[in-house]
Amino acid sequence: MIEFIDIRKIYHQGEHKIVALDGVNLHVKAGEIFGVLGQSGAGKSTLIRCVNQLEKPSSGYVRVNGQEITSLSGVALRQARQRIGMIFQHFNLLSCRTVAENIAFPLEVIGYSKLRRKAKVEELLALVGLEGKANAYPAQLSGGQKQRVGIARALAGEPNVLLSDEATSALDPQTTRSILELLRDLNQRMGLTILLITHEMGVVKQICDSVAILHAGKVVEQGSVSDLASQPDSLLAREFFPRSHNYIPRPGTVLATVAFANESARNSIFTTLTRRFDIDVNILNGSVETVGDRRVGQFQVELAGIKVTQALEYLHNSEYAVEVH
Ligand SMILES: Nc1ncnc2c1ncn2[C@@H]1O[C@H](COP(=O)(O)OP(=O)(O)OP(=O)(O)O)[C@@H](O)[C@H]1O
Ligand SMILES: [Mg+2]
Repeated sequence: MIEFIDIRKIYHQGEHKIVALDGVNLHVKAGEIFGVLGQSGAGKSTLIRCVNQLEKPSSGYVRVNGQEITSLSGVALRQARQRIGMIFQHFNLLSCRTVAENIAFPLEVIGYSKLRRKAKVEELLALVGLEGKANAYPAQLSGGQKQRVGIARALAGEPNVLLSDEATSALDPQTTRSILELLRDLNQRMGLTILLITHEMGVVKQICDSVAILHAGKVVEQGSVSDLASQPDSLLAREFFPRSHNYIPRPGTVLATVAFANESARNSIFTTLTRRFDIDVNILNGSVETVGDRRVGQFQVELAGIKVTQALEYLHNSEYAVEVH
Protein backbone atom coordinates (compact mmCIF):
# COMPACT_ATOMS: atom_id res chain seq x y z
CA MET A 1 0.00 0.00 0.00
CA ILE A 2 2.88 2.36 0.76
CA GLU A 3 6.39 1.95 -0.63
CA PHE A 4 9.34 4.13 0.24
CA ILE A 5 12.10 3.63 -2.25
CA ASP A 6 15.55 4.95 -1.42
CA ILE A 7 14.23 8.11 0.21
CA ARG A 8 16.71 10.81 1.12
CA LYS A 9 15.76 14.14 2.59
CA ILE A 10 18.29 16.87 3.13
CA TYR A 11 17.40 20.16 4.80
CA HIS A 12 19.61 23.15 4.16
CA GLN A 13 20.09 25.59 7.00
CA GLY A 14 22.43 28.31 5.80
CA GLU A 15 25.77 26.57 5.31
CA HIS A 16 24.61 23.44 7.12
CA LYS A 17 23.19 20.32 5.57
CA ILE A 18 20.92 18.20 7.76
CA VAL A 19 20.43 14.67 6.47
CA ALA A 20 16.99 13.85 7.93
CA LEU A 21 16.43 10.66 5.87
CA ASP A 22 19.35 8.67 4.53
CA GLY A 23 18.22 6.00 2.05
CA VAL A 24 14.99 4.67 3.56
CA ASN A 25 13.34 1.62 2.00
CA LEU A 26 10.08 0.41 3.53
CA HIS A 27 7.06 -1.53 2.38
CA VAL A 28 3.75 -1.13 4.22
CA LYS A 29 1.29 -3.86 3.24
CA ALA A 30 -2.41 -3.21 2.65
CA GLY A 31 -4.49 -3.63 5.80
CA GLU A 32 -1.67 -3.60 8.31
CA ILE A 33 -0.78 -1.26 11.13
CA PHE A 34 2.85 -0.31 10.60
CA GLY A 35 4.74 1.50 13.34
CA VAL A 36 7.84 3.62 12.91
CA LEU A 37 9.71 3.86 16.16
CA GLY A 38 12.59 6.20 16.85
CA GLN A 39 14.01 8.81 19.13
CA SER A 40 13.50 12.53 18.79
CA GLY A 41 15.18 13.81 15.62
CA ALA A 42 15.40 10.34 14.02
CA GLY A 43 13.40 11.56 11.00
CA LYS A 44 9.98 10.05 11.77
CA SER A 45 7.85 13.12 11.01
CA THR A 46 9.86 13.85 7.89
CA LEU A 47 9.26 10.29 6.70
CA ILE A 48 5.51 10.27 7.28
CA ARG A 49 5.12 13.70 5.68
CA CYS A 50 6.70 12.33 2.49
CA VAL A 51 3.66 10.06 2.09
CA ASN A 52 1.24 12.92 1.45
CA GLN A 53 3.94 15.19 0.05
CA LEU A 54 3.79 17.73 2.85
CA GLU A 55 7.52 17.16 2.47
CA LYS A 56 9.22 16.47 -0.88
CA PRO A 57 12.05 13.96 -0.67
CA SER A 58 15.40 15.20 -2.03
CA SER A 59 15.69 11.89 -3.92
CA GLY A 60 13.92 8.54 -4.13
CA TYR A 61 10.19 8.08 -4.45
CA VAL A 62 7.03 7.08 -2.61
CA ARG A 63 4.27 4.93 -4.07
CA VAL A 64 0.83 4.84 -2.48
CA ASN A 65 -1.58 2.16 -3.67
CA GLY A 66 0.59 1.62 -6.76
CA GLN A 67 0.68 5.31 -7.69
CA GLU A 68 3.93 7.24 -7.57
CA ILE A 69 2.93 10.21 -5.46
CA THR A 70 6.27 12.00 -5.64
CA SER A 71 5.69 12.85 -9.31
CA LEU A 72 2.19 14.32 -8.81
CA SER A 73 1.20 17.97 -8.52
CA GLY A 74 -1.88 20.17 -8.78
CA VAL A 75 -5.27 18.44 -9.11
CA ALA A 76 -3.77 14.94 -9.31
CA LEU A 77 -1.92 15.47 -6.02
CA ARG A 78 -5.05 16.87 -4.33
CA GLN A 79 -7.03 13.84 -5.44
CA ALA A 80 -4.37 11.43 -4.22
CA ARG A 81 -4.19 13.26 -0.87
CA GLN A 82 -7.92 12.82 -0.41
CA ARG A 83 -7.30 9.08 -0.04
CA ILE A 84 -4.66 9.67 2.64
CA GLY A 85 -5.96 10.83 6.04
CA MET A 86 -3.69 12.25 8.72
CA ILE A 87 -3.94 12.79 12.47
CA PHE A 88 -1.61 14.81 14.69
CA GLN A 89 -0.24 15.00 18.21
CA HIS A 90 -1.97 18.33 18.94
CA PHE A 91 -5.12 17.46 16.97
CA ASN A 92 -4.95 20.59 14.72
CA LEU A 93 -8.67 21.38 15.06
CA LEU A 94 -10.13 24.75 14.12
CA SER A 95 -11.09 26.29 17.45
CA CYS A 96 -13.77 28.61 16.04
CA ARG A 97 -15.63 25.73 14.37
CA THR A 98 -17.86 23.17 16.06
CA VAL A 99 -17.06 19.47 16.03
CA ALA A 100 -19.45 18.91 13.09
CA GLU A 101 -17.95 21.85 11.19
CA ASN A 102 -14.42 20.59 11.77
CA ILE A 103 -15.33 17.17 10.40
CA ALA A 104 -17.23 18.72 7.48
CA PHE A 105 -14.27 20.90 6.50
CA PRO A 106 -12.57 18.44 4.09
CA LEU A 107 -16.01 17.63 2.63
CA GLU A 108 -16.56 21.32 1.83
CA VAL A 109 -13.19 21.38 0.09
CA ILE A 110 -14.13 18.44 -2.14
CA GLY A 111 -17.50 20.01 -2.92
CA TYR A 112 -20.07 17.88 -1.03
CA SER A 113 -23.54 19.47 -0.84
CA LYS A 114 -24.79 20.62 2.56
CA LEU A 115 -27.18 17.67 2.78
CA ARG A 116 -24.53 15.09 1.95
CA ARG A 117 -22.12 16.72 4.40
CA LYS A 118 -24.67 16.47 7.21
CA ALA A 119 -25.31 12.77 6.57
CA LYS A 120 -21.59 11.97 6.30
CA VAL A 121 -20.73 13.91 9.47
CA GLU A 122 -23.40 12.00 11.42
CA GLU A 123 -22.01 8.71 10.16
CA LEU A 124 -18.45 9.72 11.14
CA LEU A 125 -19.50 10.94 14.60
CA ALA A 126 -21.09 7.54 15.26
CA LEU A 127 -17.99 5.77 13.93
CA VAL A 128 -15.69 7.47 16.45
CA GLY A 129 -18.18 7.38 19.35
CA LEU A 130 -18.97 11.10 19.52
CA GLU A 131 -22.73 11.10 19.03
CA GLY A 132 -24.23 14.13 20.75
CA LYS A 133 -21.06 16.24 20.47
CA ALA A 134 -21.78 17.70 17.01
CA ASN A 135 -22.33 21.24 18.29
CA ALA A 136 -19.57 21.35 20.90
CA TYR A 137 -16.46 23.47 20.31
CA PRO A 138 -12.97 21.92 20.60
CA ALA A 139 -12.31 23.86 23.85
CA GLN A 140 -15.23 21.99 25.45
CA LEU A 141 -13.72 18.55 24.71
CA SER A 142 -11.18 16.34 26.49
CA GLY A 143 -7.94 15.40 24.72
CA GLY A 144 -9.29 11.97 23.80
CA GLN A 145 -12.49 13.48 22.38
CA LYS A 146 -10.46 16.00 20.37
CA GLN A 147 -8.43 13.18 18.86
CA ARG A 148 -11.68 11.37 17.97
CA VAL A 149 -12.70 14.50 16.05
CA GLY A 150 -9.29 14.45 14.38
CA ILE A 151 -9.84 10.84 13.37
CA ALA A 152 -13.37 11.51 12.06
CA ARG A 153 -12.04 14.43 9.98
CA ALA A 154 -9.20 12.28 8.65
CA LEU A 155 -11.70 9.63 7.55
CA ALA A 156 -14.09 12.06 5.83
CA GLY A 157 -12.53 11.60 2.40
CA GLU A 158 -12.84 7.79 2.75
CA PRO A 159 -9.10 7.23 2.70
CA ASN A 160 -7.46 3.84 2.40
CA VAL A 161 -4.41 5.06 4.29
CA LEU A 162 -4.30 6.81 7.65
CA LEU A 163 -1.10 8.54 8.79
CA SER A 164 -0.65 9.17 12.48
CA ASP A 165 2.12 11.42 13.80
CA GLU A 166 2.39 10.80 17.56
CA ALA A 167 -1.43 10.89 17.82
CA THR A 168 -1.45 9.69 21.41
CA SER A 169 1.63 11.45 22.78
CA ALA A 170 -0.40 14.23 24.39
CA LEU A 171 -2.84 11.82 26.05
CA ASP A 172 -2.83 9.98 29.40
CA PRO A 173 -2.26 6.20 29.37
CA GLN A 174 -5.94 5.22 29.65
CA THR A 175 -7.06 7.61 26.90
CA THR A 176 -4.12 6.44 24.80
CA ARG A 177 -5.39 2.87 25.10
CA SER A 178 -8.92 3.82 24.04
CA ILE A 179 -7.68 5.78 21.01
CA LEU A 180 -5.41 2.88 20.01
CA GLU A 181 -8.38 0.51 20.35
CA LEU A 182 -10.40 2.78 18.07
CA LEU A 183 -7.59 2.75 15.49
CA ARG A 184 -7.35 -1.05 15.68
CA ASP A 185 -11.13 -1.29 15.29
CA LEU A 186 -11.14 0.99 12.21
CA ASN A 187 -8.24 -1.00 10.77
CA GLN A 188 -10.14 -4.26 11.16
CA ARG A 189 -13.61 -3.10 10.18
CA MET A 190 -12.64 -0.95 7.20
CA GLY A 191 -9.38 -2.60 6.16
CA LEU A 192 -7.72 0.78 6.73
CA THR A 193 -3.91 0.71 6.37
CA ILE A 194 -2.34 2.71 9.18
CA LEU A 195 1.19 4.11 9.24
CA LEU A 196 1.91 5.48 12.66
CA ILE A 197 4.96 7.00 14.18
CA THR A 198 5.73 6.98 17.84
CA HIS A 199 8.55 7.06 20.33
CA GLU A 200 6.55 4.85 22.71
CA MET A 201 7.18 1.12 22.79
CA GLY A 202 3.73 0.58 24.39
CA VAL A 203 2.01 1.82 21.23
CA VAL A 204 3.92 -0.69 19.09
CA LYS A 205 3.17 -3.44 21.58
CA GLN A 206 -0.56 -2.72 21.67
CA ILE A 207 -1.49 -2.34 18.01
CA CYS A 208 1.29 -2.67 15.44
CA ASP A 209 1.59 -5.66 13.11
CA SER A 210 4.94 -4.53 11.71
CA VAL A 211 7.57 -2.08 12.83
CA ALA A 212 10.59 -0.23 11.55
CA ILE A 213 13.14 1.33 13.87
CA LEU A 214 14.57 4.57 12.57
CA HIS A 215 17.87 5.90 13.84
CA ALA A 216 19.55 9.04 12.48
CA GLY A 217 17.57 8.84 9.22
CA LYS A 218 18.26 5.15 8.59
CA VAL A 219 16.11 2.05 9.11
CA VAL A 220 18.12 -0.10 11.51
CA GLU A 221 15.56 -2.90 11.90
CA GLN A 222 12.21 -3.88 10.39
CA GLY A 223 9.83 -6.80 10.40
CA SER A 224 6.77 -8.30 12.04
CA VAL A 225 6.45 -7.20 15.67
CA SER A 226 5.97 -10.69 17.07
CA ASP A 227 8.83 -12.15 15.00
CA LEU A 228 11.23 -9.43 16.12
CA ALA A 229 10.07 -9.63 19.73
CA SER A 230 10.85 -13.35 19.78
CA GLN A 231 14.42 -12.94 18.49
CA PRO A 232 16.56 -12.53 21.59
CA ASP A 233 19.06 -10.21 19.91
CA SER A 234 16.70 -7.88 18.01
CA LEU A 235 16.61 -4.21 18.98
CA LEU A 236 12.86 -4.50 19.55
CA ALA A 237 13.27 -7.45 21.94
CA ARG A 238 15.94 -5.52 23.83
CA GLU A 239 13.43 -2.71 24.36
CA PHE A 240 10.60 -5.10 25.23
CA PHE A 241 12.65 -7.16 27.65
CA PRO A 242 15.29 -5.15 29.45
CA ARG A 243 18.23 -7.28 30.64
CA SER A 244 20.48 -7.03 33.60
CA HIS A 245 23.85 -6.40 32.00
CA ASN A 246 26.19 -6.45 34.91
CA TYR A 247 25.46 -9.96 36.12
CA ILE A 248 28.57 -12.12 36.40
CA PRO A 249 27.71 -15.83 36.03
CA ARG A 250 28.89 -18.08 38.82
CA PRO A 251 31.76 -20.45 37.95
CA GLY A 252 30.59 -23.62 36.19
CA THR A 253 27.30 -22.08 35.03
CA VAL A 254 26.07 -20.96 31.61
CA LEU A 255 24.30 -17.65 31.14
CA ALA A 256 21.66 -17.73 28.38
CA THR A 257 18.68 -15.82 27.04
CA VAL A 258 15.71 -17.98 26.07
CA ALA A 259 12.94 -16.47 23.94
CA PHE A 260 9.67 -17.79 22.58
CA ALA A 261 6.68 -16.60 20.56
CA ASN A 262 4.32 -19.47 20.40
CA GLU A 263 1.10 -20.36 22.17
CA SER A 264 2.33 -23.81 23.03
CA ALA A 265 5.62 -22.54 24.44
CA ARG A 266 5.61 -21.36 28.01
CA ASN A 267 7.85 -20.63 30.89
CA SER A 268 7.12 -24.11 32.27
CA ILE A 269 9.90 -25.12 29.86
CA PHE A 270 12.26 -24.66 32.79
CA THR A 271 10.48 -27.37 34.76
CA THR A 272 10.86 -29.65 31.72
CA LEU A 273 14.59 -28.87 31.50
CA THR A 274 15.12 -29.56 35.18
CA ARG A 275 13.31 -32.92 35.00
CA ARG A 276 14.74 -34.15 31.71
CA PHE A 277 18.33 -33.02 32.03
CA ASP A 278 18.69 -32.82 35.77
CA ILE A 279 20.01 -29.24 35.61
CA ASP A 280 19.50 -26.23 37.85
CA VAL A 281 17.76 -23.25 36.31
CA ASN A 282 18.17 -19.91 38.00
CA ILE A 283 15.88 -17.28 36.43
CA LEU A 284 17.60 -13.88 36.61
CA ASN A 285 15.19 -11.75 34.66
CA GLY A 286 12.28 -12.05 32.28
CA SER A 287 8.64 -11.60 31.42
CA VAL A 288 5.88 -12.70 29.08
CA GLU A 289 4.07 -10.08 27.01
CA THR A 290 1.03 -10.10 24.78
CA VAL A 291 2.04 -8.84 21.35
CA GLY A 292 -0.96 -8.64 19.02
CA ASP A 293 -2.60 -11.99 19.64
CA ARG A 294 0.61 -13.84 20.50
CA ARG A 295 2.33 -14.46 23.80
CA VAL A 296 5.97 -13.55 23.53
CA GLY A 297 8.45 -14.15 26.31
CA GLN A 298 12.08 -13.80 27.12
CA PHE A 299 14.07 -15.02 30.11
CA GLN A 300 17.65 -14.61 31.19
CA VAL A 301 18.75 -17.74 32.98
CA GLU A 302 21.78 -19.26 34.58
CA LEU A 303 22.08 -22.99 33.93
CA ALA A 304 24.16 -25.48 35.89
CA GLY A 305 24.64 -29.23 35.61
CA ILE A 306 26.39 -31.94 33.62
CA LYS A 307 23.80 -31.98 30.82
CA VAL A 308 23.60 -28.23 30.12
CA THR A 309 24.83 -28.75 26.53
CA GLN A 310 22.07 -31.30 25.86
CA ALA A 311 19.50 -28.99 27.46
CA LEU A 312 20.57 -26.12 25.17
CA GLU A 313 20.38 -28.45 22.17
CA TYR A 314 16.87 -29.47 23.20
CA LEU A 315 15.85 -25.79 23.33
CA HIS A 316 17.41 -25.13 19.92
CA ASN A 317 15.50 -28.05 18.42
CA SER A 318 12.19 -26.96 19.92
CA GLU A 319 10.40 -23.66 19.36
CA TYR A 320 12.77 -21.57 21.45
CA ALA A 321 15.41 -19.10 20.41
CA VAL A 322 18.51 -19.31 22.60
CA GLU A 323 21.46 -17.02 22.92
CA VAL A 324 24.37 -18.13 25.10
CA HIS A 325 26.39 -15.29 26.58
N1 LIG B 1 11.95 22.15 8.22
C1 LIG B 1 13.15 21.74 8.66
N2 LIG B 1 14.26 22.45 8.44
C2 LIG B 1 15.47 22.05 8.86
N3 LIG B 1 15.68 20.91 9.55
C3 LIG B 1 14.60 20.15 9.83
C4 LIG B 1 13.28 20.51 9.41
N4 LIG B 1 12.42 19.57 9.81
C5 LIG B 1 13.15 18.64 10.46
N5 LIG B 1 14.46 18.98 10.46
C6 LIG B 1 15.57 18.19 11.04
O1 LIG B 1 15.53 16.88 10.51
C7 LIG B 1 15.78 15.90 11.51
C8 LIG B 1 14.59 14.95 11.63
O2 LIG B 1 13.47 15.67 12.12
P1 LIG B 1 12.03 15.02 12.36
O3 LIG B 1 11.11 16.11 12.75
O4 LIG B 1 11.67 14.21 11.16
O5 LIG B 1 12.34 14.04 13.59
P2 LIG B 1 11.32 13.19 14.49
O6 LIG B 1 11.84 11.79 14.51
O7 LIG B 1 9.93 13.39 14.02
O8 LIG B 1 11.52 13.82 15.94
P3 LIG B 1 10.43 14.05 17.14
O9 LIG B 1 10.26 12.71 17.80
O10 LIG B 1 11.14 15.03 18.05
O11 LIG B 1 9.18 14.59 16.54
C9 LIG B 1 16.11 16.68 12.77
O12 LIG B 1 17.49 16.82 12.88
C10 LIG B 1 15.44 18.03 12.54
O13 LIG B 1 16.10 19.04 13.25
MG1 LIG C 1 8.21 14.23 14.89
